[in-house]
Amino acid sequence: MSDRKELVLDEVRRYHQETAPSGEFVPGTTEIWPSGAVLDEEDRVALVEAALTMRIAAGRSSRKFESSFARRLKRRKAHLTNSGSSANLLAVSALTSHLLEDRRLKPGDEVITVAAGFPTTVNPILQNGLIPVFVDVDLTTYNATAERVAQAIGPRTRAIILAHALGNPFEVAEIAQLATDHDLFLIEDNCDAVGSTYNGQLTGTFGDMTTVSFYPAHHLTMGEGGCVLTSNLALARIVESLRDWGRDCWCEPGENDKCLKRFKYQMGTLPAGYDHKYIFSHVGYNLKATDIQAALGLTQLAKLDSFIDARRRNWRRLREGLDGAPGLLLPQATPGSDPSWFGFVITVDPQATFERAELVDFLEERKIGTRRLFAGNLTRHPAYIDQPHRVVGDLANSDIITEQTFWIGVYPGLTDEMLDYMTSSIKEFLAAHS
Ligand SMILES: Cc1ncc(COP(=O)(O)O)c(C=O)c1O
Repeated sequence: MSDRKELVLDEVRRYHQETAPSGEFVPGTTEIWPSGAVLDEEDRVALVEAALTMRIAAGRSSRKFESSFARRLKRRKAHLTNSGSSANLLAVSALTSHLLEDRRLKPGDEVITVAAGFPTTVNPILQNGLIPVFVDVDLTTYNATAERVAQAIGPRTRAIILAHALGNPFEVAEIAQLATDHDLFLIEDNCDAVGSTYNGQLTGTFGDMTTVSFYPAHHLTMGEGGCVLTSNLALARIVESLRDWGRDCWCEPGENDKCLKRFKYQMGTLPAGYDHKYIFSHVGYNLKATDIQAALGLTQLAKLDSFIDARRRNWRRLREGLDGAPGLLLPQATPGSDPSWFGFVITVDPQATFERAELVDFLEERKIGTRRLFAGNLTRHPAYIDQPHRVVGDLANSDIITEQTFWIGVYPGLTDEMLDYMTSSIKEFLAAHS
């Protein structure tokens, strides 16, 4: 590294130390965010170092992040994207590729999912002309069960896409078995659950593809960003093509003839020898991320284990602190799982003597941030009312979630003092409303 660059980065370190917040916690005044990025000196240095090098497009750091992340999550391939939503769009769109021949999904085919979750788990189904089939979730795990998914399988069912709700794994081994038995694709939306395990195996390693988000609320951040992971090389190739404008060629930008056949292809009705770099085999997108994002991803990835430990520790502290609290349904880890939690989800018992709004207002007034379980029942939102879909059984629990549920934070930026203030505040509210 040049001396001048070293000097700049030393200044960045000093800047970081001088501007670091005091860390003093004042109950009722200090904001307790439900989620947020935890960024340290190394993250700041990595961002500035990437800027100094002016690596502004996807390149060396992106490729390094992809291979490191794939290794960490035990998949053969990772493709970095500009968001978790883009990752879901790519994963579902990949299932419609002509390269899958008879297995490709066609308009009108059905994909099983849940209504109580994040919209962009479901949107790619509709965006590809497919039909979402909604099943209800259980309260306390907030996931669909294998039994409910099995009941939803019909003659046009071709795939399942489910998120591990707020980090809590769904019954992924059983659902993967159902997928195998019925020749369905399974996509695990792992955006909220990096590091969770089910039967001792990492979530994201059971299905055909898995997706991750690097938005600041998530386990790792790049500001914005996401990833599609798979060990199926045919699917990986399709994802890459769709992400990179739909091109057929897999040379990196700046790379020219990796396959040694750049001017030797004949595809479509193009003249023989047309430059493979400009042959398009999919109607694609450009959903790439940049090296500046990837540089931050790499320093964040080095801290992933400690982030996961902190999330588990924080969740346990809240769970133990609130155990037995009257009027609240507290979350349960799915049997057989060890969740890497995203949030601590609470449902106000419909029989309770108080309303969710009263408890949420009380907490927000004390600067304890709350969030809803994303959309609640998605089918009740204006955007979805007229969209084609099928509901199997009813969505009674999804409705309860819409009306009674919220979550509070467990992210690594929270301290024991904050967590204890969260539990004591909830208990104070409950004592006043018993
Ligand atoms: C389960 C789930 N899937 C997908 C996404 C979308 O990720 P992004 O915000 O990176 O687009 C989110 C966002 O929080 C999410 O919680």
